[in-house]
Amino acid sequence: MSEEIKKFKITIDGQTTEVLPGTSILEAARQIGGQSVPPAMCYYKPLENSGGRCRTCLVEVSKGSDADSRPMPKLVASCRTSVMDGMEVKNLSSEKTQEARHAVTEFLLINHPLDCPICDQAGECHLQDLSYEHGVEQTRTEFERRTFEPEDIGPYIKLNMNRCILCARCVLVANQLTDNREHGILFRGEHAEISTNLNKALESDFIGNVIDVCPVGALTDRTARFASRVWFTKPMNASCECDKCAGKAVLWMKGEEIVRVTARKDQYDEVQDWICNECRFHKKDVTKWTIEGPRHISRHSVISLNHYQKPKNTFTLLDNADAKEISEKDEK
Ligand code: SF4
Ligand code: FES
Repeated sequence: MSEEIKKFKITIDGQTTEVLPGTSILEAARQIGGQSVPPAMCYYKPLENSGGRCRTCLVEVSKGSDADSRPMPKLVASCRTSVMDGMEVKNLSSEKTQEARHAVTEFLLINHPLDCPICDQAGECHLQDLSYEHGVEQTRTEFERRTFEPEDIGPYIKLNMNRCILCARCVLVANQLTDNREHGILFRGEHAEISTNLNKALESDFIGNVIDVCPVGALTDRTARFASRVWFTKPMNASCECDKCAGKAVLWMKGEEIVRVTARKDQYDEVQDWICNECRFHKKDVTKWTIEGPRHISRHSVISLNHYQKPKNTFTLLDNADAKEISEKDEK
């Protein structure tokens, strides 16, 4: 008979849930959902060993556990701190946490340019959302920002190092999804930067996923750069026959034209199915896809606005029953 694992009880901003031992505070918060979920600029559930770098997910632990009820002396990174039984956590309800988040946002923006009006990531940038909620109006530094020339790192990807926040997600993608990692974080401290190995181009089969995981506009799709602001495009769920990946993607369309292809993401903007370079960069012809219907963007951002329309008759519907259900929901 299998032994039942005792779950741990955790209360976040007054809401209680039960999770398996080893679950992080951030994942427990996601289980509760809503406003109590801390933002995460470097943690990315589908990637092993992510998190612990940006500190946007700091929370206050006001009670360590039932066994030891003392509060934790400092704010902790919720993506890297495991739940203890009876733990009590404050996120939105903690002044200290909110203050820290303002400070971390200011810190992330020390070198990041405020070039949202010309950045392709605008509208789906996590740092843009974070600065909107926690940013300060004025800078306190008078030093010159670190500046780098934009660089083509291979035929598909543009690196704007100025915008990078060194979250290391792209390095984990290359490590965990491709055969050969050809880029990484070079140097240390203030000099740290993303760079390729000498004369290398990022071309391996699944390397395009670095674009999807980058929380800011540091890595952008060269086949879609400046083609359209994201809020002028309509995301459509689509699938195709592919022998490298599951072939399930989102087509960002302008009229009948495919502006870009991305992986499907959940409400935390994390990829559900990694897609290969062939699907992402080379299938911009609508006849190569079966359109399933409009994609519901559940993430709270400008990206979720202005996107809903019924699938056009010219598209082949994969499953009419599903499409009908989506249309009916849209009409309500
Ligand atoms: S390029 Fe993007 S994904 Fe890579 S470390 Fe910088 S911010 Fe993170
Ligand atoms: S999301 Fe936890 S430290 Fe970055």
